[in-house]
Amino acid sequence: MSEGRIDFHNHIIPGVDDGSKSIEESLEMARQAVESGISQIICSSHLNRRTWLPEYDEKVSKALIQLNEALAKASIPVSVQKGYEIAIDRHLSPLQSVFHAGLAQLPVFLIELPMMGTPLYMLTEFFEIHVNKYRVILAHPERCIDFNSKKEDFLRAVEMGVLIQLDAGSLTGQFGRAAKLAADWFIKNKAAHFMCSDAHSTGSRSYLVYKEAIKILNEKYGNPVTEKLTVTNPGFLVKGEFDKIDTVLPEEKNLLSRILGMKKKGN
Ligand SMILES: [Fe+2]
Repeated sequence: MSEGRIDFHNHIIPGVDDGSKSIEESLEMARQAVESGISQIICSSHLNRRTWLPEYDEKVSKALIQLNEALAKASIPVSVQKGYEIAIDRHLSPLQSVFHAGLAQLPVFLIELPMMGTPLYMLTEFFEIHVNKYRVILAHPERCIDFNSKKEDFLRAVEMGVLIQLDAGSLTGQFGRAAKLAADWFIKNKAAHFMCSDAHSTGSRSYLVYKEAIKILNEKYGNPVTEKLTVTNPGFLVKGEFDKIDTVLPEEKNLLSRILGMKKKGN
């Protein structure tokens, strides 16, 4: 691997959301991230209607500065930039925010859907954001409870330029069989662009899950797929080269075995 992995979905900033509880925990998370091959982190602290305030942004910024100072002092070779995970809300668009809610000051929003169900206005909202020259990255759609009935909507979203980010925990099965199958569906349908940690702690939702997900991706789909989801595409993202970001396809041997499998079924 020539370049390091880039993780832009995590809750490593201490004391601002349900992620890291302390600077010590954040440092340990960063150590685990480095062990997983990560060299660059963009945090994605939760942003919702309740926290959409300049004071919250200031709190995150201050904690970020302290974390970067502590990382340098502890000689942990990873840098952290600011970003948010935005809970979609039909009454509040990220376009109207009083501060930049994008990832690393780029014109791109990381958006999460309600776990309870995919809202009807999803595609309209994404269209509106794109018209305003921002891009949407959809966070872990494979974990949506109504995924099976919304597959067509997700494919339409990808067609209109929405980028899809899968969670490491979905690939390892941490979020259940349905999320694991859905993550596979996104990859097999050329509708996955990134895999991120969504790490919250050093406990059950840590960077160790990310490390395990890397292993699973390599075994199941091959190293080029893993590299595209964790190195190449995030690399284009941080450079703002959104048009170079592409979907992944499993290695040919997997495709062949699928074709052979289909033929067998047909017999
Ligand atoms: Fe998250």
